[in-house]
Amino acid sequence: MLIHDLSVIDKIAVIGFGNIANAIITPLLDKKLVQPENVYCLVKSEESLENLKKNYKYNINIYQSSSKNSEIIWDCEVKLLSVKPQHLKDIIVPNSIKIEDSLLVSILAGVSINRLTQKFPHHKCVRVVTNIPITVGKGLTGITWGEQITRDQKLFIKNLFENTSKIYEFTEDYLDIFLALTSSGPAIIALIIESLSDGGLSGGLPKILSEELVMEMIIGTIKLLKENKLTTSELKNLVTSPGGTTISALRVLEKKSIRSALIESIVSASNRSKELG
Ligand SMILES: NC(=O)c1ccc[n+]([C@@H]2O[C@H](COP(=O)([O-])OP(=O)(O)OC[C@H]3O[C@@H](n4cnc5c(N)ncnc54)[C@H](OP(=O)(O)O)[C@@H]3O)[C@@H](O)[C@H]2O)c1
Repeated sequence: MLIHDLSVIDKIAVIGFGNIANAIITPLLDKKLVQPENVYCLVKSEESLENLKKNYKYNINIYQSSSKNSEIIWDCEVKLLSVKPQHLKDIIVPNSIKIEDSLLVSILAGVSINRLTQKFPHHKCVRVVTNIPITVGKGLTGITWGEQITRDQKLFIKNLFENTSKIYEFTEDYLDIFLALTSSGPAIIALIIESLSDGGLSGGLPKILSEELVMEMIIGTIKLLKENKLTTSELKNLVTSPGGTTISALRVLEKKSIRSALIESIVSASNRSKELG
């Protein structure tokens, strides 16, 4: 069956309807690319079940993973796996599955295609790494294809993510470093914004104003780099005059080994992703 068109999907299952799954599925529902009655979601707790039933804006099918009814998800030809990696072991795959070769799209950090294929027999597995800006349509998504995924299935999966993110296709050995840069990156940037605005605060600026100035400065800097096609060194030289304020600031950062700290933070996140897998 050709399934690159989302509208021909009969049923899509979501194993673990948390933050990221919500960010992937809700825009598809908003754009009417998927109908609510065709979405089948699992959560673990009674609390999440009740919360989603009461507050989620679409009337999708939601089940607690321990309920008998939840087995319906195994009849769906596409499944989005979006539990935390440590909860993967709790998912019980039934021995008999009616649909052969259905697609299993995993967004779990660090869990390899090999492990997914062992855990989910009768499925073609795809590994996806995405990041939190997906919730505002500015995500970055890295994809590694498992075996025997057809061209149409690839198109279908790209359709799932292209509404909310830019897509990059990689071999699996690049996914950990992609994850370190793009998924851990927002926390690192948040820390930098927080620290710089604390600098503003120290100089007497109100907290809110200081944070706004830092964020606008970052947006402007990125725009300048991109629009004028400047390298980072060219931009640095542009604003660093002899004996001036910027070189004074950069000297402090060099003394504190900021470059090394940032490089090592990414290497460490990548290694941790490998360990988790
Ligand atoms: N957060 C990020 O920035 C980010 C970015 C990229 C990728 N990821 C990946 O996305 C995955 C989900 O992260 P998240 O932040 O969306 O987590 P989350 O909000 O905690 O969502 C996890 C969901 O899984 C459900 N769940 C737990 N055990 C289950 C089970 N046995 N069967 C079915 N559902 C179960 C949870 O239900 P309850 O609420 O009832 O416990 C919850 O709905 C992780 O593997 C992570 O590596 C996260």
